[in-house]
Amino acid sequence: MRIRTELRPTDREAIARIVRAVGVFRPDEVDVAMELVDEGLSTNADQYFFAVAEDDHGAVLGYACWGHAPMTDATYDLYWIAVDPTRHGGGIGQKLLAACEDDVRARGGRLLLIETEGTPDYEPTRRFYLRAGYPEIARVRDYYRVGADKIVYGRSLA
Ligand SMILES: CC(C)(COP(=O)(O)OP(=O)(O)OC[C@H]1O[C@@H](n2cnc3c(N)ncnc32)[C@H](O)[C@@H]1OP(=O)(O)O)[C@@H](O)C(=O)NCCC(=O)NCCS
Repeated sequence: MRIRTELRPTDREAIARIVRAVGVFRPDEVDVAMELVDEGLSTNADQYFFAVAEDDHGAVLGYACWGHAPMTDATYDLYWIAVDPTRHGGGIGQKLLAACEDDVRARGGRLLLIETEGTPDYEPTRRFYLRAGYPEIARVRDYYRVGADKIVYGRSLA
């Protein structure tokens, strides 16, 4: 398995399959994830950055997407991270997150934020962020829907 930070047109179909297969994203969220991929593949792409995990045969196993938070000097947001569900728990997510952190540091970023939902569906995801060293730094009750808090995880990269 290897990680590259170059997004290729041939990744699109595999990423679409993975974001649907993980089973936590609603159809409108899948659409937004794919809009960011399309933006990343456009000729003047400079807003979203990507890491792609692939196996020895070049098959895509997961991806992450992040970007600079507008109106901040050096804060970045991790927008999406998803791993092929048949490969969950194998360390691919941690490697994608590490690639994101390396890239953000190289761009002079000082803080990386991650938002997720407080619903039971996202319990393994929340565990993943905590294991990766991202404590919960903010919570907005009932943000997405009643009973679905927004949780912000963050880590200083300085
Ligand atoms: C969150 C996600 C990217 C993690 O990727 P991963 O490759 O499964 O994670 P890793 O193997 O690197 O890390 C494993 C850690 O994540 C957690 N974890 C999350 N989902 C897991 C799963 N299905 N199986 C095992 N561990 C899981 C565990 O805490 C585990 O740590 P531990 O083994 O020390 O207890 C992946 O599970 C995923 O695609 N989830 C669905 C999409 C999603 O929620 N994305 C984030 C939206 S905000």
